[in-house]
Amino acid sequence: MLQRILGRTGLAVSPLGLGLAALGRPGYINLDHARDMAGGTEVEVMRARAWAVLDAAWARGIRYFDAARSYGRAEEFLGAWLAARGIAPDTVSIGSKWGYIYTAGWRVEAEVHEVKDHSLEVLQRQRAESDTLLGPQLDLYQIHSASLESGVLDDPTVLAELARYRDSGLAIGLSLSGPQQAEVLRRAIGIEVGGAPLFGSAQVTWNLLEPSAGEALREAHEAGVGIIVKEALANGRLTDRNDDPAFAPRLALLREIAAEQQTTVDALAIAAALTQPWTSVVLSGAANVEQLASNLRALDVFWTDAIAERLSSLAEPPEAYWQTRSALDWN
Ligand SMILES: NC(=O)c1ccc[n+]([C@@H]2O[C@H](COP(=O)([O-])OP(=O)(O)OC[C@H]3O[C@@H](n4cnc5c(N)ncnc54)[C@H](OP(=O)(O)O)[C@@H]3O)[C@@H](O)[C@H]2O)c1
Repeated sequence: MLQRILGRTGLAVSPLGLGLAALGRPGYINLDHARDMAGGTEVEVMRARAWAVLDAAWARGIRYFDAARSYGRAEEFLGAWLAARGIAPDTVSIGSKWGYIYTAGWRVEAEVHEVKDHSLEVLQRQRAESDTLLGPQLDLYQIHSASLESGVLDDPTVLAELARYRDSGLAIGLSLSGPQQAEVLRRAIGIEVGGAPLFGSAQVTWNLLEPSAGEALREAHEAGVGIIVKEALANGRLTDRNDDPAFAPRLALLREIAAEQQTTVDALAIAAALTQPWTSVVLSGAANVEQLASNLRALDVFWTDAIAERLSSLAEPPEAYWQTRSALDWN
């Protein structure tokens, strides 16, 4: 895979990256996570599963990996894998996130899986934890789901601490979620500390059902912010596994075009994100090697304006999309 540069972070990334949200802990909100974890959720089993997907990703040229403090043992699995395979820091880009605390205790039925806390204290504590697990491999540290309500973009102590990390060579980014992604992104683009922009990258949900951040993403890209697309499959809704009867006509359209292109539904949906002019990297959230192989077929899709036009009918009103997403069960 030809590498790209992730905006002003200067990091080299492959167009397809791998996110570890589905691999680092037993419970997650993706559609059929329980089925993916049917082989077991003991720590050893989950580590082996994560390593198998990481090995397959590496073999196929994926060179950006994405974790977070709140993804259970994702940083631990990733750091140990990098060490075991002898992967040198300058041959791969590693991102993680701070700002959510993992509270599920390895239990799928936990009442609360993660708690948001964007305070300076949590930033400093989680940075130390990420450093312990990832060491010099950590390239990019992102605010996890920055929002206007959390006040993180208005907290001078947090912004100054992030700028201190930036000035010592760690790239700083933020991830976004919810119907206000575009608004928060525009706000973040303008934040400067010490006479220089703070954020080098933004990780944003964009997919065929929820493309509303597109214009803000173009602006961010033009301002030098590297764009990482997450949830390109709408948490599994844009895959063959979506058996919601209300989605059937839209799945039929996706299947029809995927068949014409001799590809899979998930690859087609990922290709839609890959072809956006502002995209640096699209995350695969594959939970196993088979899903990754299917996702990777996105790289071979011959995308045309006619396909984009036919698929534009899939978009949902953002409020409806985010309502559906917040109703997804941890499983
Ligand atoms: N706020 C944030 O910062 C934030 C939020 C979310 C995600 N992320 C990042 O983005 C990455 C990707 O997001 P995501 O995993 O949440 O969402 P996603 O990419 O939209 O969905 C990935 C899921 O789709 C399903 N899938 C993929 N390929 C498939 C196939 N071939 N057949 C059937 N199902 C398939 C799997 O779920 P099932 O098998 O379980 O159905 C997989 O876990 C994460 O790993 C994380 O790094 C960040």
